Amino acid sequence: MSEIVVGITGASGAVYAKKLLETLAAEKHRIHLVASKTGAEIFRSENDVDVAQLAEAEPEWIKCYRNDDLHAPIASGSFQTGGMAVVPASMDVCGAIASGLAPTLITRAAAVTMKEGRRLVVVPRETPMSAVHLDNLAKLARAGVVVMPACPAFYTGPLQVGDLVDFMVQRICDALGIEVEIAPRWSR
Ligand SMILES: Cc1cc2nc3c(=O)[nH]c(=O)nc-3n(C[C@H](O)[C@H](O)[C@H](O)COP(=O)(O)O)c2cc1C
Repeated sequence: MSEIVVGITGASGAVYAKKLLETLAAEKHRIHLVASKTGAEIFRSENDVDVAQLAEAEPEWIKCYRNDDLHAPIASGSFQTGGMAVVPASMDVCGAIASGLAPTLITRAAAVTMKEGRRLVVVPRETPMSAVHLDNLAKLARAGVVVMPACPAFYTGPLQVGDLVDFMVQRICDALGIEVEIAPRWSR
């Protein structure tokens, strides 16, 4: 069991966030969850459920914070966590994190995760990407952030959308150092 921060921002791909929350809760990890305004809106429209409702269904494992709550424990490096995932990550939030800007709880928690040398995984979803987007992502990668675009693989023979989602969530958990086996792995 560990404390994991999950940030949900305004990009398509909220289905990855939903599955990640369900997977971490099922594995009994304590989740510190923050959604941006647009992140929560897209979550609702793509998943047909409120992110707050999902958190309420798992009160033991999911603690929700407002994105303007800079007094939350995860805004401080003294609060120990096992890492953070921003899923999905908008180009805005990637740019802010890459620039060292932390005016919201999501960007502050990401900055804290980086400065404390903990695992930070961002899952951007944008296509195509401009040179500005790519520069920001390269800057994050150089700073030790795992940049994991929402690009599921097809070598596992997915039959439904859920298989593609499971693949991505398994790779996100791999990057966070959390053991889960919810999708086939490549083997010869
Ligand atoms: C329906 C909808 C879908 C969007 N999809 C994306 C997307 O896939 N990737 C992205 O980078 N931005 C996307 N955006 C734009 C961001 O939500 C917008 O830039 C916002 O300012 C991001 O703020 P946040 O990072 O605080 O959530 C989308 C916006 C809306 C309303």
